[in-house]
Amino acid sequence: MWGGRYTTGPAEIMEKINASIDFDKRMYAQDIEGSKAHCRMLVATGVITAEDGGKILTGLDQILAEIEAGQFTFRRSLEDIHMNVEARLTEIIGPAAGRLHTARSRNDQVALDVRLWVRDAADRADIQIADLQSALVSRAEEYADAVMPGFTHLQTAQPVTFGHHLMAYVEMFGRDRGRFQDARRRMNESPLGGAALAGTSFPIDRHMTAKDLGFDRPMGNSMDAVADRDFALEYLAAASILATHLSRLAEEIVIWCSAQFRFIRLTDAFSTGSSIMPQKRNPDAAELVRGKAGRVIGALNTLLIVMKGLPMTYGKDMQEDKEPVFMVRDTLDLCISAMTGMVRDLTANRQAMRDATLPGFATATDLADWLVQNLNIPFREAHHITGHMVKLAEDNGVDLSELSLEQMHEVEPRITQEVFEVLGIDNSVRSRVSYGGTAPARVLEQAKLWKERLG
Ligand code: ARG
Repeated sequence: MWGGRYTTGPAEIMEKINASIDFDKRMYAQDIEGSKAHCRMLVATGVITAEDGGKILTGLDQILAEIEAGQFTFRRSLEDIHMNVEARLTEIIGPAAGRLHTARSRNDQVALDVRLWVRDAADRADIQIADLQSALVSRAEEYADAVMPGFTHLQTAQPVTFGHHLMAYVEMFGRDRGRFQDARRRMNESPLGGAALAGTSFPIDRHMTAKDLGFDRPMGNSMDAVADRDFALEYLAAASILATHLSRLAEEIVIWCSAQFRFIRLTDAFSTGSSIMPQKRNPDAAELVRGKAGRVIGALNTLLIVMKGLPMTYGKDMQEDKEPVFMVRDTLDLCISAMTGMVRDLTANRQAMRDATLPGFATATDLADWLVQNLNIPFREAHHITGHMVKLAEDNGVDLSELSLEQMHEVEPRITQEVFEVLGIDNSVRSRVSYGGTAPARVLEQAKLWKERLG
């Protein structure tokens, strides 16, 4: 491969550790697209002739067709996708193939290919997450008034609705999309033309190739162009945050499916059985979404560690950027789709959620607020009075709403019959009308807003 200077080939183990073709063949489309743009520019600037350029473009199209038809033989001895494509081009069109690599290095070539690949992966994540959001919004509308316990510390806090709970994830996933979009905006500059690291003496037109490949502009520094993989790190970082959100929702699905909670049920399509315990309905997909978050976060760490000590500019270490990125895209594909499937599949058990809201005095805050609003008691004192009331209810083994007015008067004689209106969980939820609150009307408002945004 290296021509004149080398007399013997590489040791077998050298070839094995060096070759990236086994995984970087996934970038074949980006490699060919980038080469075609480079070739058109070389013709336009007069660096190569139109005749050679024409042969190169035809040859590259043929190679693309061969790869897509599964008729291309990838050779490890040719190290990577770039050399495999070029070698085949030589077979097809002869010596003119040797002109394609004018004013280019594999360093800017690979930086370009990975960037195109990651840009596409970011776009795909954005689209897939939007689908998940749509699924969540539909379910949120359906369950906008389904009361459930809201938790802090996994202790009953205040009643909320299942719809409100689901809409919380719509917001999180919305920010995840924003992170992929931001990363895309920043990465959308072309490294092509950075050449090995210093630029080139050929009269290339980097603005032309940048535009051709859908970039906003060429990168401003040839060394930076070949040296950094921050765009891949940003993709992995956005993916990691998304994966933690997916994992938290997955964890909740696992909890909600349990016999102790019974908040939701997944159909047979999303449940697995046990080979020994016939009663089991395991939420394996949710557990795997939770588990696979580990790989995604691991991939971010992997690439951060690969990059952190590298001197400028390109180092072969950077060949290690691809596998984490490829794996993460595959993992996100799987996890987002599985989550969307589960969200569409699940049925919520309104009664179980309601029953679970009663123990734990979820309306204690409503009582305290009532004391403030109706008896003009300062909130801190109202909190104290309510604490006594909870204790009384607890001692009697009843809910706050089940205490009699007489019993309440033992704690606070000014309380009136009207207090019972806020102690019901439906009233409690309906009263939370502040912007972004859990009142069903508010939840429906937000759902409508998101529906419009999601189109
Ligand atoms: N396979 C290499 C990679 O993935 C391509 C770039 C090789 N460049 C070089 N100077 N050896 O990074």
